[in-house]
Amino acid sequence: MKVVTTGAELKSALTVRAGRRVLVPTMGALHHGHLELVKMARSAAGPDGTVVVSIFVNPIQFDRASDLDAYPRPLESDLAKCLAAGVDVVFAPDVGSMYFPDRSITVTENHLSSGLCGAARPGHFDGVCTVVLKLFLLSGCDAAVFGEKDFQQLAVIRRMVRDLDVPVEIIECPTVREDDGLAMSSRNVRLTPDQRKDAPRIHRSLVEASTLENPAAILAAARTGIESSPMARIDYLSLVDAETLQPVTDLQRPTVLSTAVFYGDVRLIDHVATRHTEPS
Ligand code: PAF
Repeated sequence: MKVVTTGAELKSALTVRAGRRVLVPTMGALHHGHLELVKMARSAAGPDGTVVVSIFVNPIQFDRASDLDAYPRPLESDLAKCLAAGVDVVFAPDVGSMYFPDRSITVTENHLSSGLCGAARPGHFDGVCTVVLKLFLLSGCDAAVFGEKDFQQLAVIRRMVRDLDVPVEIIECPTVREDDGLAMSSRNVRLTPDQRKDAPRIHRSLVEASTLENPAAILAAARTGIESSPMARIDYLSLVDAETLQPVTDLQRPTVLSTAVFYGDVRLIDHVATRHTEPS
């Protein structure tokens, strides 16, 4: 496994290899969910292909300095996990080699990113799109794997690829959960033991609410379920159209019940699909 830290090193690490090149963009603090992304990347790359994992805590997608500072950065153990998972190249740049101090170009998506995490974290998806496009260009990847857990991110990246004719196939990996239902996230390690014990209520509340018959009842039940813990504070809770990500008032199309919840300073996101009835 090669570990490189600049775009130039990445290019030379990749030129000697043949086959399909598949990128797994990450911010590190790798957990089992990331390793599932790597597995998908390996099978998409094929035996002669190359799996590239990027590890970069992208400062321009953080809206809170405290969240950026507290983001875990266990590089040595991440590299060991990549090695064990059969990754070919790890790209772990520092901020200075990714961004010029006077950088002035940003990729902005204006529609899908307007609600949910986009509304709660201004500038977040500009930062995500900008870094993801840079990672696509630097790695020259044919495909890239993203977790379905960040379903708004996935929708925004698909839109960027479509609208800008980016020649990269986007591969989606289902959300990986702990045994108690909590969606795996690099932020989970920052929960206190009590918060960690309580946090599965997020998924449980969404699942229970999603079986109800109308949007108002679904939202009310999910809110009650989450807020019945004094530790949990809802950042947003929305029922949106699965394709447009706009809030819905009926269930005639596929919809998604989505939330972000704070435990102390730690912000966790999750979502579930709800039942819907096609209009007759
Ligand atoms: O999902 C993430 O970890 C990040 O948003 C990504 C895609 C690696 C961009 O920094």
